[in-house]
Amino acid sequence: MGVPFYNFHDLHHDSFKTEVKKRINDIIDNNAFVEGEYNQKFEVEFAQKQKSNHCLLVANGTDALEIALLVHGVGAGDKVGVPGITFYATAEAVLNVGATPVWIDVDEKAGLLCPDSLKRVHEKHNLKAVMPVHIYGLPCPMDEINSFCSEKGIAVIEDAAQAQGTYYKEGSPVGDGPNLVTFSFYPTKNLSAFGDAGCILTNDEKLAKKVITIRNHGRGDEAAMGRNSRCDHMQAAVLHAKLEEVDQFNKQRKEVAALYHKGLASLPFGLLPEKFLALSSWHLYPIQLPSIKHREELMNLLRSKDIGCTPFYEKALSQEEALQGYEGEDTNAKNFAGRTLCLPMNPFLSQSDVDEVVGVICEYANKL
Ligand SMILES: Cc1ncc(COP(=O)(O)O)c(C=O)c1O
Repeated sequence: MGVPFYNFHDLHHDSFKTEVKKRINDIIDNNAFVEGEYNQKFEVEFAQKQKSNHCLLVANGTDALEIALLVHGVGAGDKVGVPGITFYATAEAVLNVGATPVWIDVDEKAGLLCPDSLKRVHEKHNLKAVMPVHIYGLPCPMDEINSFCSEKGIAVIEDAAQAQGTYYKEGSPVGDGPNLVTFSFYPTKNLSAFGDAGCILTNDEKLAKKVITIRNHGRGDEAAMGRNSRCDHMQAAVLHAKLEEVDQFNKQRKEVAALYHKGLASLPFGLLPEKFLALSSWHLYPIQLPSIKHREELMNLLRSKDIGCTPFYEKALSQEEALQGYEGEDTNAKNFAGRTLCLPMNPFLSQSDVDEVVGVICEYANKL
């Protein structure tokens, strides 16, 4: 028995592997290693899927965030709002362009950027940009964030590294909006490469051109400096092959999330609001334990039974050693830190896998 956190074996099934090997052979035979035909095909088809005008592949999700900040002219002396708890790449990108992160608190239930905190923090800090993170695949309240930011002239960069498959409202996938939206295609993501890759979506042609310039050493604009953040052709070929199946796999993730939701509904753990069942990409399925001690106990019990689980995230960003001394608001973020446990989540979990996980959690809850 046991339940795996990821399942690369079924994701990379035989016919998929055959197709990818064929594509890689062609790439080798044609010496087309960087920015080849699959880059173009992927960019066109992924933009369509996400209802965006432009998709620009880059080397990884962190570069995507940094380039998005550069495109908006964010640099030294600028302040950028970052949610108080997220994967640290979001804050890292702000520091890497020479700007200063300012913490915006998250809501109590889902851990998503709180518009009221954003309003208060902006009053005090005059933000140049803000980076809502669709953490775990849960959508941030974009309509409220966008209307405030457009009124105040704050650039919005959505960190959708975990959110391929997420709808920020019914009928609107992330990317179908006014902002630059960044993705990571790291191998564990819902849509994943065989290594590192990422992309930026935008509906604005001028901003798309800037991304194209920056990702390839400033080429195409003599006045511009850039970097190397090209996506190699083999990763693009893998990503393009996966586009065919990703919707079906995201649907299966939703079904798994609904089974967890039903199985855990009567237990005294913080479950996410029901509205997310249809909207989230269910990159991860997090539950909130009453304390860090409870989270540690349940994690150890699940792992002792070969059930994969991870404590994302153990610290608020302000608690990271490398991120000391920045201002802002993060009371709820600190309260979240360490209490979250992510259960096994992948498209191939069966009812009996979910029953096994839920059974262990019930056994633990009954002893509390
Ligand atoms: C929320 C978030 N932002 C940014 C990144 C960075 O992406 P990458 O690892 O592709 O650079 C990640 C990666 O896990 C992430 O989860």
